[in-house]
Amino acid sequence: MNENVIGTVLITEEQIREKATEIGRQISEDYAGKEIILVGILRGAVPWMADIMKRITLDMTIDFMAVSSYGAATKSSGVVKINKDLETDIDGKDVIIVEDIVDSGVTLNYLEGYLRSRGAATVKLCSLLDKPEGRRVDIKADYVGFTVDDRFIVGYGLDYDQRYRNLPYITWLESE
Ligand code: IMP
Ligand code: MG
Repeated sequence: MNENVIGTVLITEEQIREKATEIGRQISEDYAGKEIILVGILRGAVPWMADIMKRITLDMTIDFMAVSSYGAATKSSGVVKINKDLETDIDGKDVIIVEDIVDSGVTLNYLEGYLRSRGAATVKLCSLLDKPEGRRVDIKADYVGFTVDDRFIVGYGLDYDQRYRNLPYITWLESE
């Protein structure tokens, strides 16, 4: 039986924290004078969301959503199931979605449309990681921490079968 083993450290906690500081500063500049809502996507975005929100100097609130894909067959159609909806009224608000990784882009593409349909004035995307080779729909995150190769990433919120989310760094899974 194949066993999964973890690769070497790709991105350290320190690098992630530095990046969060940079992006937090950028968001604070871009939205100066505005009030924003960060919408974190459970569960992978939790550590990155915590880093980013502490580096934003604006008046802001947070909320969370949980979503899952309906399965491989319908994934390309962009059908995403909402397991936990927003609790905040976002009508007329400036929203930033905070995600762990953009791979196919299906999830973020759906969420962007959904948040607009709920009346958001603007919707931007902030992702810890971007895996451009996986892209199936044309979507680009506005704020990206790091770009990664097309391999299965775990750590700092990202899981394999719900495990490894607690690793304080980014690595990948290898089979041996
Ligand atoms: P997308 O809809 O394909 O862009 O990706 C949606 C979700 O798939 C992400 O929010 C992650 O939860 C998961 N995902 C995509 N690539 C990886 C990976 O390399 N490791 C762990 N989870 C991933
Ligand atoms: Mg996720």
